[in-house]
Amino acid sequence: MRQAGRYLPEYRRVRRQAGSFLDLCYTPELAVEVSLQPLRRFAMDGAILFSDILVVADALGMKVTFRERHGPVLEALQDGRDVGRLKLAGVHERLAPVYDAVGLLAERVPDGVALIGFAGAPWTLASYMVEGASSTDLTRTKLWAYTDPDGFQELVDVLVEATAAFVIGQVQHGAEVVQLFDSWGGVLPEVHFQRWCVEPTRALVRRLKQACPGVAVIGFVRGAGLMSEGFADCTGVDAIGLDSVVPLSWAAGRLQPRHPVQGNLDPVLLVAGGDALRAEATRILDVLGQGPFIFNLGHGVLPTTPLEHVVLLVEIIRGWHR
Ligand code: CP3
Repeated sequence: MRQAGRYLPEYRRVRRQAGSFLDLCYTPELAVEVSLQPLRRFAMDGAILFSDILVVADALGMKVTFRERHGPVLEALQDGRDVGRLKLAGVHERLAPVYDAVGLLAERVPDGVALIGFAGAPWTLASYMVEGASSTDLTRTKLWAYTDPDGFQELVDVLVEATAAFVIGQVQHGAEVVQLFDSWGGVLPEVHFQRWCVEPTRALVRRLKQACPGVAVIGFVRGAGLMSEGFADCTGVDAIGLDSVVPLSWAAGRLQPRHPVQGNLDPVLLVAGGDALRAEATRILDVLGQGPFIFNLGHGVLPTTPLEHVVLLVEIIRGWHR
């Protein structure tokens, strides 16, 4: 999750050279370079493609920009007419530079390191396209979904198609694992969670697995809590990502018997470092390390994270024994 983020000085250098954030995403050599940077410093088992979930909105014809210290800004969708103007045909062609980056990475990632592609899940992608920026409550998106479910479904259907094309393209160019980020799934009450998070993800996974039968899929829904269990069982994802507040013993008892789990160190503990980091990382390993498990953060690396703390964390993980 934003491993290649602003906490790495070498990332910030490339980012400055690239011009805009989207230029960085769409210039294969640069995207490959920043994807590989964390691997050069740390003994990671996985490499995540450098891109962003919002390239799909851009490829659909929306105006997307990333403002320094502000995050993404989009020309928000207002209604069904705006949905009708999204350009689904040609999405694959517009995303070609991302596939080229994946192809180069597949050649350059060291043996034994898994290449992870990703996309935003339809609900989270829709939320940025409707809010027009990062939002904490998603009121506009929810109001659209609650008051005009048929109209909102049309948007979600477009996003299922576009996102399926995006992840299929990545796998066809060499991604071995696909992670789906539903970073805002956890704001939905259960009936709506089922319709707007579970169902679209299920449709997306079905398309992906039909086209690419061997691919492994990790589903991450931030804030899903108890609903993670139904999500994991109903969507067809293989593994399930956990945010930092999911209780470990619950995850070990309810999720891990059927799905590998990934998570879930609080990114702020990586900023804190020292004993606090060691205690929590060890607790996670002790509880989840008994079953199929991918160590990860519960959300993205924060830009203020000291590099030495990442070094320490990798040491803790590598030094841990079952
Ligand atoms: O780990 C990696 O570097 C892989 C690439 C990656 C990025 N974004 C690059 C990025 C991945 C996997 C993402 C996912 C992503 N993007 C999500 C889902 C995961 C999550 O964090 O919830 C979401 C919601 C987005 C949309 C997005 N992109 C936002 C909200 C922002 C602003 C972030 C902020 O904190 O200001 C981005 C920008 C972004 N995407 C950065 C990076 C490295 C920082 C941009 C910069 O260099 O200025």
